[in-house]
Amino acid sequence: MYLTEEEQKMLNGERGPSVQKAMQIQVQLGEIYGAERMIPVKSAHMPGSSVVVAGEGALKFIEKMGENCEEFAAYTTLNTAAVDLDRPEEIGFKDGDVQRQKRLTCAYEKMGGIACHTCTPYLIGHVPMKGEHVAWGESSAIAFANSVLGARTNREGGPSALAAAITGRVPAYGYHLDENRKGQYIIDVQARLSDVSDFGSLGYWVGQKVGSGVPVFTGIGHEVNTDQLKMLGAALASSGAVALFHIVGVTPEAPTLEAAMGGNEPKERWTFGEAEKADACAKLNKHQGQPVSLVALGCPHSSLNEIITIAKLLEGRLVKATFWVLTSQPVKHFAYRSGYGQIIEAAGAKLVVDTCSVLGEMSAPMEKIGMTAMATNSAKLAHYAPGQWNIPTYYGTTEQCVNAAVEGVFNND
Ligand code: F3S
Repeated sequence: MYLTEEEQKMLNGERGPSVQKAMQIQVQLGEIYGAERMIPVKSAHMPGSSVVVAGEGALKFIEKMGENCEEFAAYTTLNTAAVDLDRPEEIGFKDGDVQRQKRLTCAYEKMGGIACHTCTPYLIGHVPMKGEHVAWGESSAIAFANSVLGARTNREGGPSALAAAITGRVPAYGYHLDENRKGQYIIDVQARLSDVSDFGSLGYWVGQKVGSGVPVFTGIGHEVNTDQLKMLGAALASSGAVALFHIVGVTPEAPTLEAAMGGNEPKERWTFGEAEKADACAKLNKHQGQPVSLVALGCPHSSLNEIITIAKLLEGRLVKATFWVLTSQPVKHFAYRSGYGQIIEAAGAKLVVDTCSVLGEMSAPMEKIGMTAMATNSAKLAHYAPGQWNIPTYYGTTEQCVNAAVEGVFNND
């Protein structure tokens, strides 16, 4: 594998032991995947940012790397944490978990990591350009960066994202290369898609079919918005392992179907109509009649626009179930500045920041709630919650979920 003079110095230990260790990781990865060279990266998004994911061993490793590393070479944001660092006690997190999370956050911050603790860094200013090489972790953020922004990232795990942040390099393989960004499957969308959950259902259905392939969608018009696209990517990466999708006429590498396919013949072609939409929704929404104790919206973390929608649906009402709107600190700030945060909290719901129902240390908060069933508009959360928490999960539109929070039961109609 070709290394520049500077990369060779990193590998030789001339830039210190942490940089050397990080470069060793990148070279080993490059050799496994047959990379011929390294590519400089300007930014990283760190998936191992929750102590639930990182664990004690990884926490010690990251602290050790931080002791010998002056500063990340790439601009680095931190993914979702294990607790809400704003008001952990109110949500029900244990002090021990808060302290462990603070240790991990602090270790990353020492190296220059930005402790935004969100899976939607692109909603708060971390927005790589089309064609820019980056090293991002967190499956939903990866799909958004590759597909909607046209940036180039592989599915980075904790160690490789950390190594990329420290060295500012990634091995040149996978989605960094033109040949791996071409479409492989075509999906003609004929179903009516409006609520964000419709896009989740589409992603869930397609992800099961294509696995880690590159799907190309036709039939989705320009009126599609950022919130719908983040739900689509999150669902594709949950039932499947999709890191890149194209939408003809919408996403940057798909001005036409021919451009999106890049000369590839489709391996398969499907139609996604009303029957397929109903089928995907039914797979995620299998329960009836259990009282709903938790409604969780904001997987991936909510935008301000989604919070406004929720606030309008909640205005003047009171919730019976615990209702979490998951988001990032900056979006919460603007939700309060614009008055929508107050509307949500007046209804008895909460804007929960930094964490989420999957990557959070949720045992204590869920015990506090007294979990019976959960409702969500996120296909990703509906996919993971039943296995993780062993609870019935309802899946539907944002409006159905808000109504479930107010009434304490989920209405399937
Ligand atoms: Fe984000 Fe957690 Fe969902 S990291 S995408 S809110 S599972």
